Amino acid sequence: MTDFITFRTVNEMRTQVATWRNAGLTIGLVPTMGGLHSGHQKLVSRAAKKCDRVIATIFVNPTQFGAGEDLDSYPRTEIEDCKMIMDAGGNAAFIPSVSEMYPDGFATTVQVAGLTDMLCGATRPGHFDGVTQVVSKLLIQAGADMAFFGEKDWQQLAIIRRMVLDLDIPTKIVGVPTVRDEFGLALSSRNGYLDAAQIEIARQFNVILRKAAYDIAAGGFAADECAKAAQLILDAGFDRIDYVECRDAHSLELIERVDDEETRIFAAAYLGPARLIDNHSVS
Ligand code: PAJ
Repeated sequence: MTDFITFRTVNEMRTQVATWRNAGLTIGLVPTMGGLHSGHQKLVSRAAKKCDRVIATIFVNPTQFGAGEDLDSYPRTEIEDCKMIMDAGGNAAFIPSVSEMYPDGFATTVQVAGLTDMLCGATRPGHFDGVTQVVSKLLIQAGADMAFFGEKDWQQLAIIRRMVLDLDIPTKIVGVPTVRDEFGLALSSRNGYLDAAQIEIARQFNVILRKAAYDIAAGGFAADECAKAAQLILDAGFDRIDYVECRDAHSLELIERVDDEETRIFAAAYLGPARLIDNHSVS
């Protein structure tokens, strides 16, 4: 195993990537905002299986947080994160400063139309513009062969696939299935905001969604089953529902009844200090 490397600047990363390339090695990229857990580690280990060298990025991207969101309290655990990247088979971390990513005079936006309007885009205006802005930069900076993203953020993954296609960015985007705890709760850096009682409530989220997915697959009317699921999520102790919707897995168009297309159920809900999202296949 080569020594673990930390890059702070785009130049340092590019120089190392060029050296690896000259040696005939392939490169995988795993963009993250840190606060790593075993879901992120799965992305790194998947990347290490497919690529010779793996760089994980750690950057709490200010442009994807809205006013009043958790930018300041977002977990910053760089030393632990690097250890987790290394343990999962990663070779390097790119940890840029905000001024390295957005120097004075920075003026470029990247916007994917349509896919960003619905689901999380509807209640977090501008969020996905920040995501595409930073992810396009990271992909161009690293020049990796492949980049790995979690299916937990299914809409984000769909938007990034569209962007890479539209902008001819020569990096293959790989989706990785959601890592869950033993009760099915999707791991998230924001689960750390929850106390023990709230974790118990949070664990019902995926159970309710999987039941709704099953009932829709069995012929139920999607809007009715989603409304039932929303009520059950509130009954379980969540404070507020953002959305529970059944949509085409790729176009993200609303679905009324399942047919042959790949369909998923998507949900977001607020619980104490956290906003949880999840999605499941309807089949
Ligand atoms: P972050 O929330 O840190 O997530 C980094 C990556 O890990 C994303 O691709 C996300 O989908 C994936 N991930 C998170 N939890 C997961 C889980 N339980 N199972 C599998 N994968 C999981 O998503 C972001 O950061 C940012 O928006 C980013 C893409 C880095 C741009 O700033």
